[in-house]
Amino acid sequence: MIQTQETAQELYARMREKLAEVVPEVELRYKSELAWRINALKRERNAVVLGHNYMEPALYHSILELCRQAARTTADIIVFCGVRFMAETAKILNPGKTVLIPSPVAGCSLAQSITAADVRDLKARFPGVPVVSYVNTYADVKAESDICCTSGNAAKVVQSLGSQRVIFLPDEFLARNVAKETGRTIIFPTRGPRAADGQAAGLDYQMVGWQGRCEVHEKFTVEDIANVRRQFPDVVVLAHPECSPEVVAASDFAGSTAAMIAWVEKTQAPRYLLLTECSMGDNIAAANPRKEMLRLCTVRCPHMNEITLEMTLAALEQTRYVVEVPEETRRRALAAVERMIAIG
Ligand code: 13P
Ligand code: SF4
Repeated sequence: MIQTQETAQELYARMREKLAEVVPEVELRYKSELAWRINALKRERNAVVLGHNYMEPALYHSILELCRQAARTTADIIVFCGVRFMAETAKILNPGKTVLIPSPVAGCSLAQSITAADVRDLKARFPGVPVVSYVNTYADVKAESDICCTSGNAAKVVQSLGSQRVIFLPDEFLARNVAKETGRTIIFPTRGPRAADGQAAGLDYQMVGWQGRCEVHEKFTVEDIANVRRQFPDVVVLAHPECSPEVVAASDFAGSTAAMIAWVEKTQAPRYLLLTECSMGDNIAAANPRKEMLRLCTVRCPHMNEITLEMTLAALEQTRYVVEVPEETRRRALAAVERMIAIG
């Protein structure tokens, strides 16, 4: 995707062609210079830069490798442009490589919502019930889990277990959406006094959830959708499954960020409303210039926003911030991730 010998001018021209509509000219010139320096350092240090779809457009369209290519990478260093749990997952899968995250404070409200001790407590309260953890969790939570899932394969993972009950952590809305899709009843036990479980014992339930929320996706409402549909009756509405079940039900499509991108690419509507982090709308708009992306752009993930071209350059120049996962935790977390990968 990126030519090895690309000059600074060529990179600027390539970015301009793609991003002229979404990034102001003055920013584009400055950011293309940063991106060019990052690409030169990548070659010099035998590094690969991976990133999430929520990265700002100039970064997204200039320095990132395709993740599929990176799985086969012989690079010594992986720079992960995303939040901490994602960089940790790269380390879990690549223990022999140096994994860097450009910002030490790029967290996630979902990953933050649950600890390994919380999972151990739930396992004690619901003995023998398998634990499915969304990948938006830290390594020590994954290590306490039987299997991981992504927003794209969550229902498939739950069904694959063939278990009457599952514990599904930590996203309340993703859990409710999966429960709905798989026809299960879900309960949300409270922290603290066990009396709540006594009540739950009288209920017929097949899923046990946790009340974590994505601070971005919880903001979208059914009213937002109705307002946009009133103005643009032909709009196609796409929601991430971290949105509430009501928002998902009012949308035309729900799926992971990768599934949303694929949906926009394969369908031919004149305009789309993306109910997800707003940088992704810019990235899709740049890749699909003939389709209009509407987005509710007050909603930028503050954690993803920490990762900039400047911080990425500094990460490579100073080999910072190194992501470490204790080996025992990594080994147990890897087992949960590999069980998910085996399911597909
Ligand atoms: P995807 O797994 O769909 O890419 O989303 C991750 C995320 O953090 C969504 O907020
Ligand atoms: Fe976490 Fe939400 Fe940000 Fe994704 S968008 S990293 S789930 S806070």
